[in-house]
Amino acid sequence: WYVDKNVDEYNPTVMEIGDRLRKGEVIAFPTETVYGLGANALDSNAVRKIFEAKGRPSDNPLIVHIASFEQLNELVTHIDEKSKQLMARFWPGPLTIIFPSKGKISELVTSLPTVAIRMPDHPIALAIIRAAQVPIAAPSANRSGKPSPTKAEHVWSDLHGRIDGIVDGGNTGYGVESTVIDVSGDEPVILRPGGVTIEQLEEVIGEVEIDPALVHKGEKPKAPGMKYTHYAPDAEMWLVQGEEEKVIQEINRIVKEKSLEGRRVGVLTTKDHQDRISETAYKVLAYGNKDDLTPFAANVYDALRQFDKDKIDFILAEAFPETGIGLAIMNRLKKAAGGNILKV
Ligand code: TXA
Ligand code: MG
Repeated sequence: WYVDKNVDEYNPTVMEIGDRLRKGEVIAFPTETVYGLGANALDSNAVRKIFEAKGRPSDNPLIVHIASFEQLNELVTHIDEKSKQLMARFWPGPLTIIFPSKGKISELVTSLPTVAIRMPDHPIALAIIRAAQVPIAAPSANRSGKPSPTKAEHVWSDLHGRIDGIVDGGNTGYGVESTVIDVSGDEPVILRPGGVTIEQLEEVIGEVEIDPALVHKGEKPKAPGMKYTHYAPDAEMWLVQGEEEKVIQEINRIVKEKSLEGRRVGVLTTKDHQDRISETAYKVLAYGNKDDLTPFAANVYDALRQFDKDKIDFILAEAFPETGIGLAIMNRLKKAAGGNILKV
């Protein structure tokens, strides 16, 4: 279905999609972060289809999407002060909060005593959830391990024939997934960096930690999904990190070396550096700039998919400071590169 951004839950197409979801179909729709693959969170048969379509490991719990605070009360046993402050500031929006579960949702959504919940800031997503009249479990609508989808065509290429439908609402906004936070302990912990930055969170609830497993290898991440390799393009990929001039020099040196070996080299950088990348690179993709990485986040998954489409077999990407949205971008790039970082 093509759905316009100015819809509400009374739009006939949205009502049909809502009905189908409530009755157990799995349907992909846009959110402000990435496309989600939705199913009725109360219906185990529907939720099972999500795992089958994605090829997702069953120990990786799903985020439940809601459109009202009444829905939240039905799903959780307790809402603490910090969660209230966060919801007041960031909902609807790209922040997922871990709550103690009442156990009303399917145990396939989460087998933990907790449930991850968010209220998306996207008119189509909100209209569909309202029309469905049930909470909607929705992981990113990609095959497990592939870059998350930021366009309907990404969903199509990964999942057509495996799901009941796709709602095309154009490109998503942020381009990286929601931030996942657990505020149940003494100090709030970010389980997955995302659209809401650590700086924004700290303005509201004071000091916030990042799950140590995201920084040091070998520890077990608190969000089960973070242990998997992810977002992986087909090509070998390396991040190049260091002082700006040296990074550009090193990228160009490797571009030339690998091109001479007959490899198709792709470079992922920012607009400030685009014109300085060696012409021997097969493909250069550039988004945003040093002072504003928002466009980079919005396009990073599409870039990885474009490299795949062009049969690029060696990708070099510029590394960024891990502040603001740079933290989420670097988390995704490191995963895409399988941890390959070249420090110069
Ligand atoms: O932006 C987003 O969050 C997108 C859109 C569609 O809303 N959804 C998304 O879902 O990224 P998914 O399934 O790809 O990622 C969910 C993450 C995983 O890392 C999972 O392990 C974690 O949230 N998670 C879910 N429930 C959890 C829980 N109860 N405790 C800890 N982590 C949880
Ligand atoms: Mg995902």
